[in-house]
Amino acid sequence: MSMHAVPALAIEGIAKSFGGLRVLSDVSVTLGQGECLGLIGPNGAGKTTLFNIVTGFLTPDYGRIAFDGRDITMAKPDVRVRAGLVRTFQKSMAFPELSVRENLALAARSGAGESYGWLGARKAVEAADAAADALLTRAGLRERAELLVAGLSYGEQRIVDVLISLAMRPRVLLLDEPTAGLSRGEGEHLIEVVRTLGEGLSSILIAHDLDIVFGLCDRVAVLDLGRLIACDTPDAIKANEGAQAAYLGATFGEAA
Ligand SMILES: Nc1ncnc2c1ncn2[C@@H]1O[C@H](COP(=O)(O)OP(=O)(O)OP(=O)(O)O)[C@@H](O)[C@H]1O
Ligand SMILES: [Mg+2]
Repeated sequence: MSMHAVPALAIEGIAKSFGGLRVLSDVSVTLGQGECLGLIGPNGAGKTTLFNIVTGFLTPDYGRIAFDGRDITMAKPDVRVRAGLVRTFQKSMAFPELSVRENLALAARSGAGESYGWLGARKAVEAADAAADALLTRAGLRERAELLVAGLSYGEQRIVDVLISLAMRPRVLLLDEPTAGLSRGEGEHLIEVVRTLGEGLSSILIAHDLDIVFGLCDRVAVLDLGRLIACDTPDAIKANEGAQAAYLGATFGEAA
């Protein structure tokens, strides 16, 4: 990679208000190629709103989003997904009444670079099923392929959410609290799946579990009341008094 490599994602001067409520103020941060960036901050800090703007579910009042150097500020969400900008949601987007394999195969067919005519459709279906099974095997869930998502444990459903996003073949993956509600063991397993199957991806991870963020991410950005108050290495963030204050005494020492 050259010193001047274009960032995977450039978020520049983003501001957003809902009615009179200013939720994001002049937020600028870049995601390097292959980098894992943590995004932390108290409830209501604006983390999910920033994801909604990056993925095109919301239009910013000010600012610009560039994906691999191309301005996508006004691009529709599905255009961004096909370009390889994929997210997970705080709530599952899986279809509970479909099987695990069907969910992953649908994701594979809605992801990056999919286009096929009628004659190619059968091959596309077979390729999507194969991609689904490959992901399930690597995640240790191959024997779950035929089960309905509704029949999985909550922890397995959260892993399926991550596998759905990976099946879309992202180049940049945005994860919104993938470990919320999981036990420590389940959370660690999910992060292991993200780490191994998402190797080489550029990613932004929102999580309240600071152990996970500091352990996994190359850099960590801290949002507080809609402002980016710090963005630095995990060690530097742990030592940052402003970042600690944003957590009102939930000191990073406990999470180190
Ligand atoms: N569509 C909306 N309309 C009005 N207000 C909204 C909307 N979406 C978010 N907000 C408000 O914007 C602020 C930021 O919300 P956001 O969901 O981005 O926070 P967050 O950092 O993701 O919080 P959490 O950690 O709880 O998920 C909150 O005050 C929220 O109530
Ligand atoms: Mg949120």
